[in-house]
Amino acid sequence: MSGQETISIRPMCESDLDAVLAIEHASFPAPWRREHFLHELVAPHAFPFVAAADGEVAGYVCLMSLFDEAQILDIAVDPRQRGRGIARQLMEHAFKVARMQGAEFMALEVRASNMAAITLYERLGFVRTGVRRGYYEGKEDAVLMEKSLLGDS
Ligand SMILES: CC(C)(COP(=O)(O)OP(=O)(O)OC[C@H]1O[C@@H](n2cnc3c(N)ncnc32)[C@H](O)[C@@H]1OP(=O)(O)O)[C@@H](O)C(=O)NCCC(=O)NCCS
Repeated sequence: MSGQETISIRPMCESDLDAVLAIEHASFPAPWRREHFLHELVAPHAFPFVAAADGEVAGYVCLMSLFDEAQILDIAVDPRQRGRGIARQLMEHAFKVARMQGAEFMALEVRASNMAAITLYERLGFVRTGVRRGYYEGKEDAVLMEKSLLGDS
């Protein structure tokens, strides 16, 4: 990515799914399937977004926002585009949309070994609220994290 490349964040659409699935498969040991993303495109309270760099999908976030609680269901960035602030921009967009939907806090789960994601979330103001033992494939713990969306925090 050159210094001049601009990132734009927009709602995910069906024509993004080949690119989204390629990133998903490069990012997770148990990737979501196409049907899962298709569901996010139509589900009430679901807000999936992509980050596009010069028109190419560079990352995405799947947000759920219902009443006072929002959740990050999925987020990933193309391995070639990591470390350039794209996940931070996707998360900040998710905060804005969730606040507009009336959410007062955001929650998520992350693999205990996923230091890149845990660092990302901590930098954005999330705190650890608990652990779900053996949550992933019966082996790895899930760390539960939350952030208040009230005020500027
Ligand atoms: C986690 C992930 C989404 C981060 O995407 P990214 O675009 O590279 O992240 P950013 O460049 O926006 O980084 C934002 C912050 O996260 C932190 N961070 C990102 N990658 C990191 C890494 N590998 N190690 C340590 N910290 C990292 C940085 O400290 C950065 O904070 P700073 O801007 O204050 O320095 C990306 O690594 C990814 O797609 N991983 C695979 C999928 C995944 O694990 N998703 C999360 C599931 S819960």
